[in-house]
Amino acid sequence: MTRRPFICGNWKMFKTSAEAAALARELRAQVGGVAAQVAIAPPFTALPAAHNALVGSSVELFAQNCHWEASGAYTGEVSAPMLRELGCAGVILGHSERRQLFGETDATVQKKLKAALGAGLTAIVCVGETLAEREAQRETAVVSTQVRGALAGGLTSADTARIAFAYEPVWAIGTGKVATPAQAQAMHATIRGLLRERVGGAADGIRILYGGSVKPDNAATLLSQPDIDGALVGGASLQAADFSRIVAAARERV
Ligand code: PGA
Repeated sequence: MTRRPFICGNWKMFKTSAEAAALARELRAQVGGVAAQVAIAPPFTALPAAHNALVGSSVELFAQNCHWEASGAYTGEVSAPMLRELGCAGVILGHSERRQLFGETDATVQKKLKAALGAGLTAIVCVGETLAEREAQRETAVVSTQVRGALAGGLTSADTARIAFAYEPVWAIGTGKVATPAQAQAMHATIRGLLRERVGGAADGIRILYGGSVKPDNAATLLSQPDIDGALVGGASLQAADFSRIVAAARERV
């Protein structure tokens, strides 16, 4: 089964609304008309400005997190229907920074996934082991637990079209230390095997992105692996030229 490559930029807590609009405008000019699915995930406050800058382009708008309830007494939180209203097509869930710094667990990721899909959003569920876990050769166990945990609420075959996973080894995020294509491929194949246990052959249609120091000069090699279907890009997504080169690498894979 061919899977459409998917490149998503995770802007983290960078870019004011004005800066986001400018970068979104640059990107739409540079990555328009490509076969790959392309998305950017600015901070919450910059979503409306980025949305305006992207009107009429194929570049999609994603958020970086959401709450699991549609509304309620949850000070400081933002819900999936609220993101939908702002024009978001999807949301990143369970990023390692959220897990490590903001107490997210497999249980909250699972509830958020259910809420996101229920609101009509696409979700990118992030998983990945720390350096200590890899050194202890526990990476497969850790990532398997995260994948199973995210899907503990069940996954219908209809959901499979709107879910993607991102394997992001924590030791590779923002460090310049990228997983080797073989290390990444091995984990992606493991994840696909877990997905097959859940949804059978439909697992072959689910995109699994790699994330962690993806740059223009390593994107093509990573994307040439059979189970690497795209990239979740942090630092390199903040420069239009770099992000466009990564998108171009995905285009070559199509
Ligand atoms: P990086 O971040 O590309 O800067 O390593 C990736 C991510 O955190 O999603």
